[in-house]
Order: sequence, then C-alpha cells, then structure tokens
Amino acid sequence: MQGIVERLDFEGMGVVIIGKREFHVPFTAPGDRVEVRKWRKKKRKLIATDFNIIEESPMRVPPKCPYFERCGGCALQHLPYEEQLELKAKRLSESIGLDVDVLPSPRIYGHRNRIDVVISTHGIGFRRKGTWWEAVDIDWCPVFGEASGKVLRSLREFIEDHALSLYSIRENSGFLRYIVIREGKFTGELMVNLVTSGGRLPEEFPNYFEYATSIYWSVNRTKSDVSYGDVERFWKSEFIRERLDDVVYFIHPNSFFQTNSYGAVNLVKKVAELVEGERVLDMYSGVGTFGVYLAKRGFSVEGIEVNPFAVEMARKTAELNGVDATFYIGEDRDVESLKDYETLVLDPPRAGLHPKLIRKILKEQPETVVYVSCNPSTLGKNLKELLEKYRVEEALGLDMFPQTPHVEGIIKLKLKV
Ligand SMILES: C[S@@+](CC[C@H](N)C(=O)[O-])C[C@H]1O[C@@H](n2cnc3c(N)ncnc32)[C@H](O)[C@@H]1O
Repeated sequence: MQGIVERLDFEGMGVVIIGKREFHVPFTAPGDRVEVRKWRKKKRKLIATDFNIIEESPMRVPPKCPYFERCGGCALQHLPYEEQLELKAKRLSESIGLDVDVLPSPRIYGHRNRIDVVISTHGIGFRRKGTWWEAVDIDWCPVFGEASGKVLRSLREFIEDHALSLYSIRENSGFLRYIVIREGKFTGELMVNLVTSGGRLPEEFPNYFEYATSIYWSVNRTKSDVSYGDVERFWKSEFIRERLDDVVYFIHPNSFFQTNSYGAVNLVKKVAELVEGERVLDMYSGVGTFGVYLAKRGFSVEGIEVNPFAVEMARKTAELNGVDATFYIGEDRDVESLKDYETLVLDPPRAGLHPKLIRKILKEQPETVVYVSCNPSTLGKNLKELLEKYRVEEALGLDMFPQTPHVEGIIKLKLKV
C-alpha cells in the first residue's frame, strides 16, 4: 500500500491516507512517498511498523546523527529546523487555543547538557525506537556533543580492562546499568555518574575519567530501569556548575536541571521580562532556576517545591550567587496564601496544576501569573479554568528540545478588571 505523507502529527510522525485509513509513519516528511507493509494500533492510531520510503520529499535535510531512525532519542532530525518550529507552534497553538510563535533554540545540535546512556547486553547507547529492552550502540551523541564520545571511549576501556558485566533488563543480571553524562555548556564542567547494580567497583574507576570535574558511582539495587541510584561515592567535585546569563547553578547527579542550557538562558530571561511587581512566588521551584535568577534581578522571591533535595540545591545556588531568595519544601495543594505576592510563577510537572491550587488562584487572585509548561495539553486544560478570572497578556512557545516534537509554552496572565 502506497501513499504520500500529507502532514506531520504532533508526535512528529508523517500522516499518510491510503484508501480510507490514516497511517502514522515514523521518520517521514511531508512529500515522502511511502509503502506501508505492517502496522499496529495504538490509542486508535495506526502506526506503521514495517514501511519503506519509495521517494524522498525535497523537504528533507540530512540528519547529523548516524544512529537516527534507530535510536529512540530524536524524531525530527530529517526535517529543516523551520519545519520543526512550525510543528511545535501548531501543536502549542491548538492546545491552548491561541496563535503563538515558537522562539528557536540558539543551538540545535550539541545543546543537551545531559544524556542518560544505557549500558546493557544489547549495547551501550539509547533505547531502540519502540522497545524498552534493546539499546542502540553509539560512539557519541551529536545532540549532546563531543564530550559524549570521550566519556564513552573511556567507559569501554574500563569495561574491557576489568571484564565487567553489562546489565540485562530481561534477566535482571549484570553489573553496569547506566552512565549519565552532564556538562555545563557555559562552564565546561563535566560530570560522569556510573549507575550499577550492587557489587564491587574496581578502584581504578575514577582514573578512567580524570578529565571530568565530578565523578560519581551510584547503585540501583532495584529492578526498575532508572538511571539513578543511591550515591555510593564521588571523586573530585561534589557538584558541577552551569551558568545561565549571570547566574551560576549547582548540579548534582540526583537533581533536575533544564536540559538545554542555551534555551534555558532564553527561558529565564523571558520569565524575568514577564514578571511584575516586587514579590514573587516561584511555585514548583525545583533547583531554583527561576527563583534565583529573579532574585538576582531584585525581585523578592519565595519558592515552593516538593523535593527536599531540589530545595537544598536551590538554597545552595542562592547562597553561591549571594541573593536572598527563600525556598521551602511544600506541596502545591498545601500553599497557605497567595495574597502576599504580585506575581505567581508556575512551572508544574507534566500533569499540570493541582485542582486545589487552581481554586486558590481563582479565589485569591494574584495580579500576574506566569505559567511555564513542557506539556501543551495540561497547559491548555489549566488555562481554560484560569481564564474565568484572567486574560492572556502574552503567550509564546520556546524550543528547549530541538530534534524532538516537544515544546515549552509560556503564558502571562493578568487579572481581569
Ligand atoms: C518542570 S519542573 C520545574 C522545576 C524548576 N522550575 C526548574 O526549572 O528547575 C517541576 C517541579 O515540580 C516539582 N513538583 C512535583 N510535584 C509537586 C507538588 N505536588 N508540589 C510541589 N512541587 C512539585 C518537581 O519536583 C519539579 O521540581
């Protein structure tokens, strides 16, 4: 069965209509002529699993990554960046019911400051597209940059020299499970975190990565396929640092940080531009990315975040930058009062705002709300409710995730008069 890809869906798959059926074909571009041989049904969508591109669309650009189409990390490397932005703008605009533009990422390769590389009996790399157990063996990751190649070479040497076993997810056996690489793009500092099952790590381990700023060994004794564990030991620095504009942040292996440092500079600047008044509540403050940046600009900031470790990092970062921002451990649904703040900054997890917090906002009515979200659908849903008392003053998208269909939305709301 053959057809021509008409458009892209919001996951970045090409949509082709053959007869009365609509197929979604991964890694295709509008204008590609494709043959679909096999497919599976997922949430009422027919997704092609066996297909052939018969004629390539003139729109295509050559992907920079040799593993593209096998690796599950990127979906859009074959599309010109303007097309990627258009897809993201369409996705965000439809979700929030407003026409928005998406601010491009300053870099579209080498922008990621973190990769979580699977170490498995199937290979050392990323999960193969569509599987949870296989891994595509990689030498480096162009979306992260050259340091990934250096670390993976050292890792392979270490494995070979010490005949170390690799983890099998199906059998829950083997020692080495993940290596997480993080890099401060503006500081040049590098962190390597090796995650293993329980066992003995050869003491020569840190010698293989002596060029790194910070070297960690973490242990995950569970069956869960996660890239973190209990810190067993570290060598050299406890943290690495990243700088966004004039603020320096601490990064620890177990703490979140915005994954695109170049995009994050745009993000913090934009949030600072939208904030009004003096007193700001940074809700879901994480490691203080917005809070510390805003405090440095003279706002009086309080932050609330559920993860105690992130709060500790935010406090350390505030101290490092000599700013007076106060971060509390707490939950969105338990916020006592919003009355003391002129602006409320919201950056919730993908699930969006807790209904109790929405009710509190509508009742206590802070003058300005700046809502940052990496999930257009929950952003759209929450926005609908907030529009009962608020109007949109500004809305835009920001690309934090080049080569993927993801998009960050930012909306400034003002209380209706
Ligand atoms: C998208 S992140 C934002 C982090 C922060 N703004 C940053 O850029 O570093 C969402 C944050 O919400 C926190 N979180 C999740 N559930 C929460 C809850 N119920 N109450 C408060 N914070 C929560 C997470 O721990 C995470 O740090």
